[in-house]
Amino acid sequence: MLDYASTAETTPNIAVIKYWGKRDEKLILPHNSSMSFTMSEVLKTRTTVVFSKDFTEDSAWIQHEKLEGQELYGLLRIINLIRERYSINLKAHIASLNCFPTASSASGMAALVCAATKALRLNLSPKELSILARQGSGSASRSVMGGFVEWRRGVEPDGSDSFAEQIKPASHWSEMRNVIALVDQGRKKVSSRSGMRQTIETSPLYRARLDYLPEALEKMRQAVTAKNFEDFAEITMRESDNMHAVMLDTWPPITYLNDVSRQIMHTVREDLNIGETRAAYTFDAGPNAHVYTLEKHAETVKKALKEIPGVQQVLECKVGDGPKYIEDESDYLIDPESGEMRDHFFDEASKKIVVGRQI
Ligand code: PMV
Repeated sequence: MLDYASTAETTPNIAVIKYWGKRDEKLILPHNSSMSFTMSEVLKTRTTVVFSKDFTEDSAWIQHEKLEGQELYGLLRIINLIRERYSINLKAHIASLNCFPTASSASGMAALVCAATKALRLNLSPKELSILARQGSGSASRSVMGGFVEWRRGVEPDGSDSFAEQIKPASHWSEMRNVIALVDQGRKKVSSRSGMRQTIETSPLYRARLDYLPEALEKMRQAVTAKNFEDFAEITMRESDNMHAVMLDTWPPITYLNDVSRQIMHTVREDLNIGETRAAYTFDAGPNAHVYTLEKHAETVKKALKEIPGVQQVLECKVGDGPKYIEDESDYLIDPESGEMRDHFFDEASKKIVVGRQI
């Protein structure tokens, strides 16, 4: 049964120039180009995909929960796309484990695309993987590769030129750190899909955002290439503030940030960055903070964030190298005998996925 099987591990990416708004909802084509850093393995997704003629239906498990209805359909959309494009006529079993409480659509979709295409031995280029992952979730287009990544919006209506590329490997700026301050581990209040749509339909400031972004992106490319942390920090924070301003300008307003998030912004600006730029906050569609800093300031930043009431946990990541394929079949998440998800779990202490009891 494991003839057409593969297991991939991917990590989330955190954008410093954000994607917010689609010009094509079906193909997931963005209004603007974006840039992100793929994270190291502190947070990761492991996904096994098996295609077999023995399977009579598609099945999927996430965190040991068998998916039904809409959730299963969402995951199969991308599998169906791969089946159609490459004329595959086999049912699939998919099992996925996230080593963090709130699932990242970026690492989840990237892992699914990497594992499924590898299982089918399609031998796709990073560009082809990115185009496929993009159609699962826009930000996933940037998680199929490591380092400093840019997703160019493209201009073609079919999306053939809308994919991510690595602009610098992780080793280019190895001192870069992302200190994550977990504030709330629940689900997003408004999905990014519907939030983006509401912003485009109602925010008069959105047009101004699209006008300012190309120059911000160019300055960000220069800051990353030159490893200029001061410029990097300013562009990162202004860009996060801009996206959240446009969200607030949406009707009804979208507020992902809460009082703890705002206190983190204050601490970065008024404590950590006095005299020297040590940190740069950025927030996605939620209140958790990603504070970029350099290795030499990481301890100071972590200490300051831990002292903020309401910060539940502080994690430190580096920039990561991108997807990894697991060769050893005993580490696959699908049991070869039953075709069902195995009883693996994530061990917090060793930061490894191990065989054992269910979480
Ligand atoms: O691809 P989605 O639906 O997860 O959208 C992600 C959008 C942001 O995280 C807010 C910004 C970004 O560029 O990652």
